[in-house]
Amino acid sequence: MSKKTGTSKIIKEGLTKLKIPKDYLSKKHFFNPKVELSRDLTVLVLNSLGPKDWVICDALSGIGARGLRVAKECDVKRVWLNDMSEYNIPYMKKNARLNRVKSKIKITNQDANQLLSEQIRTFDYIDIDPWGSPTYFFDSCARSIKRKGFLGFSATDTAALCGTSSITCLRRYGIQSYKTDFFKELGVRILITSAALSFSKWFFSLKPLLSYTSKHYFRVFAEVKKGRSIASKTVKKNLGYVNYCPKCLWRKMDKRPITKCEFCGSETKIIGKIWIGKIQDVKFIKKCIKQLSKIDWLKNKYKVRKLLLSLVNESIPLYYDVHKICKKHSLKIPKFMILQDKLKKKNYSAERTHFCKTGIKTNAELEEFIKIISKS
Ligand SMILES: C[S@@+](CC[C@H](N)C(=O)[O-])C[C@H]1O[C@@H](n2cnc3c(N)ncnc32)[C@H](O)[C@@H]1O
Ligand SMILES: [Zn+2]
Repeated sequence: MSKKTGTSKIIKEGLTKLKIPKDYLSKKHFFNPKVELSRDLTVLVLNSLGPKDWVICDALSGIGARGLRVAKECDVKRVWLNDMSEYNIPYMKKNARLNRVKSKIKITNQDANQLLSEQIRTFDYIDIDPWGSPTYFFDSCARSIKRKGFLGFSATDTAALCGTSSITCLRRYGIQSYKTDFFKELGVRILITSAALSFSKWFFSLKPLLSYTSKHYFRVFAEVKKGRSIASKTVKKNLGYVNYCPKCLWRKMDKRPITKCEFCGSETKIIGKIWIGKIQDVKFIKKCIKQLSKIDWLKNKYKVRKLLLSLVNESIPLYYDVHKICKKHSLKIPKFMILQDKLKKKNYSAERTHFCKTGIKTNAELEEFIKIISKS
């Protein structure tokens, strides 16, 4: 729904009206209507966490769409909107008035790192939604988040995260990566590793609550808690290696690096240290699904529900891309349902994944998986 007024127009997302500039995709004053789902999820996650007197920071807010939606659609005390580009500020102000949330909103025009570094232990929730990588902001988030707080961060640097540009990944995330057939999940794990290590430096543990990818971006919601011992335990427990054989597509996530493929004997690619722990908190996601029925104003509620229902079943790590496995091993591509049935009959899990349309999450080892495909 949109209404034009001169050089800008008014649209509605959730319960929030947004006056957006005509050139809303410009670097001056930015708003991307295509990531409404990501803002819907932010509203849902904050409603599910149940904040009452929370202080929220939308540190890279563009025209303020996400933070304004939180102010309007969640029960929070205060929302701080910030963006480095001064052209966004008039839109933040107009939209705060338009939605009658002005009294809850604080607006600044600063570098996010400066703002966050100055606001020690101020925020209950910080949102980092940059162009490219959020990694540059994690250290300052650790200064300004409260002793127990929550974060939402996204990344659009898919080449670095998906193994296409492994040198950029090493430089930016400190991980030697590689192109795999489960590259989208690997991207999320790399992103979580970077956040978890940045926070651990400042004695915070990090627990991913909900992680997903859609279109051109990755997004993670996580809880952080301050404490030297829990920070050390988190890193010790959750970091390890993704061992991968490009020759046969064998893979194993393990605490140890494995140099020889356990299927074909070739030399493996070792990716890590990387987050090998859980990337979803199923209990929390179920809470979000319940909460979704209470906030029925979301335009994308069916899409959100479908995504959440998928995430609940995605606890097995590292999906197989069935098409790539078939190509590599000269197998006929099976009907998906038949393959799922055959796996389940042998007591293996067999779930679809939002990461990949032709992907399957199963605890069957490659050898067994290939055998089952060939009989499907
Ligand atoms: C992807 S847009 C944000 C979109 C917004 N979160 C939304 O949901 O509509 C990224 C924004 O970050 C701002 N930005 C980039 N670097 C920044 C920095 N160091 N500090 C503050 N803002 C920054 C840009 O001006 C741009 O508006
Ligand atoms: Zn191999």
